[in-house]
Amino acid sequence: MKRLTGLCLLALLLALRMTGNASAQPVEVLHYWTSTSETAALDVIKSGLAQKGLVWKDFVIPGGGGESAYAVLQARAIAGDPPVAALLEGPTVQEWASLGFLASPYPASLEKSWDAVLPQVVQQAVKYKGRYVALPTNIHRINWLWVNTDVLAAVGAAPPKTWDDFFVLAPKLKAVGYTPLLLGNEPWQEGTLFEAFLLGMSDAAFYRQVFVEHNSDAILSSRMQYILERFRALRPYTGRPDAGKSWTQTIAALRQGKAAMLVMGDWAKAELQQQGMGRQLDCVPAPGTASAFIYGVDSFALLHAEGEAGDNKVQAQFAAVLMSPALQSRLAQRKGAIPPRRDADRSKLDRCGQASYAAFAAAEKTRQLLPSMAHSMAGTQVAREAIFRVVSHYFNHPQQDSGQATQQLNAALQALQQ
Ligand code: GAL
Repeated sequence: MKRLTGLCLLALLLALRMTGNASAQPVEVLHYWTSTSETAALDVIKSGLAQKGLVWKDFVIPGGGGESAYAVLQARAIAGDPPVAALLEGPTVQEWASLGFLASPYPASLEKSWDAVLPQVVQQAVKYKGRYVALPTNIHRINWLWVNTDVLAAVGAAPPKTWDDFFVLAPKLKAVGYTPLLLGNEPWQEGTLFEAFLLGMSDAAFYRQVFVEHNSDAILSSRMQYILERFRALRPYTGRPDAGKSWTQTIAALRQGKAAMLVMGDWAKAELQQQGMGRQLDCVPAPGTASAFIYGVDSFALLHAEGEAGDNKVQAQFAAVLMSPALQSRLAQRKGAIPPRRDADRSKLDRCGQASYAAFAAAEKTRQLLPSMAHSMAGTQVAREAIFRVVSHYFNHPQQDSGQATQQLNAALQALQQ
């Protein structure tokens, strides 16, 4: 009986393939959203596609921040066997588009309708030579400080507004057994903290000089050396080393009341809420960064895969689902993000989500929307990983001199610009 069922199934699949009925064929998507909240967010997209008759097939490469996913995507694309779609962010989208890997199949009228509702920084993240080559699904604010209010209350403290405030508060928390500031040992987590710290210790102009322009004068400045030295002074307060834990395991200490604070994008909020953290979770801007919004735009690109991706029915369905205001609204709630479309309903976002949108609007007006280096919005993956390497080594090797670190950082980034 079993053999008969298998043969029938095979016959059915072959028949569907022959009729070119793309809707029954799985659409393979490479991504790295594997946490509980990320999976819940993906389910919104999967069910939207299923209603259009598209079957989403996961091609998952775990690892927050996406480094491993990008490496595997590169291998598959070079082997001529790319997935139909991939989660890509920022300049990586333009890099892949310039190599001819990304499809830009959307009608001009549809692109015009997206121009009318998408902020400039989002359009820049997903266009190549004026055409959309990726579909933006959500915007994260990276420079958040997540706080366990019960822990701060235990020492009678308010969340620090500046890093000087932090350095006064941290010893008090540590003295009574709390980890003042959670930090996992993955480079992207150190990079996330470093970019928010640098911004909090300087300003938007300096942030852009270092992470967007790779400006040697800024990188080699005494200001940069001072910021690195103060950054490393955080280390005794970060409860390290936390070897081998994923970011979702690391942040559980905030929920458990073992730690007081965490600097991370607002995907951490969604994950903490999924883990059951309730009223004691509070969101405040990372110290010194209240008027700025370091952004991460998640987007899905269609690749020139055989078959499905070339099938404009799949492409049109992908765009219709991912760019629908209703989907973007639901996905934002589950992902801890804000929707990229200005016309997507934001009324169901929680307090921190509403605060994120207000911060985005304010920062847009004062030109303080800043692309996240740590989350692939500023510069190439190679530059991002060069920054991670230098910053992580300096942070974890107290004997290294800050001048040496700035020299190494400058040399690495200048070499990439040749
Ligand atoms: C970021 C991504 C977020 C979240 C995070 C942790 O780069 O934009 O959506 O997935 O990594 O994995």
